[in-house]
Amino acid sequence: MLPILLSFLLLLFPSSLLADDFCVADLAGPTTPSGYTCKKPSSVTVKDFVFSGLGVPGNTSNIIKAAVTPAFVGQFPGVNGLGISAARLDLAVGGVVPLHTHPAASEFLVVTQGCILAGFISTSNDVYYTTLKKGESMLFPQGLLHFQVNAGGVTAVAVVSFSSPNPGLQITAFALFANSLPSALVEKVSFLDDAQVKKLKKVLGGSG
Ligand SMILES: *[C@@H]1O[C@H](CO)[C@@H](O)[C@H](O)[C@H]1NC(C)=O
Repeated sequence: MLPILLSFLLLLFPSSLLADDFCVADLAGPTTPSGYTCKKPSSVTVKDFVFSGLGVPGNTSNIIKAAVTPAFVGQFPGVNGLGISAARLDLAVGGVVPLHTHPAASEFLVVTQGCILAGFISTSNDVYYTTLKKGESMLFPQGLLHFQVNAGGVTAVAVVSFSSPNPGLQITAFALFANSLPSALVEKVSFLDDAQVKKLKKVLGGSG
């Protein structure tokens, strides 16, 4: 009886019963706190599980002399629901990924070229930082402030992986100086002086 019932159900609901292996994001569909809804399994192809962007150097002609190329769910729908994602980090000479957090993910960084000075700050404000050579790795626990700085005379490259398809990224300096939060308030909450705040707002595109 049971096998007959199962075959009957499979005939009725083939995709819903077979869709549990993955949930490739339907980027046109709604998002929920647990991710995107799934693309129809019949329209999923191997391309949904392949991402070529991490082989391409990012453009580091910018104020931080660095580029982050994400393979988050928005760029790589196959990671939806799998609890993972990745990114490529390019740091030109003098480049820096300023102090930032990923609210939703821990990070695992592998240096693939050059040298990177990297570190994080715990919630008890202890600091953990070191210089990593090619082939070395470092962990950045979820939600903690961290940074990466090119520590050599050549472009540095790292591949980072995350424990979420959508790690989120908030850069502290941009949160303080790249928006319209009034300068007087920024000064109050950061203990910085007016000249410093106005200077950084100008550099980073903030107003107010
Ligand atoms: C890199 O970015 C800069 C600044 O936005 C731009 O002028 C330049 O054309 C870009 N280079 C490439 C190779 O895309």
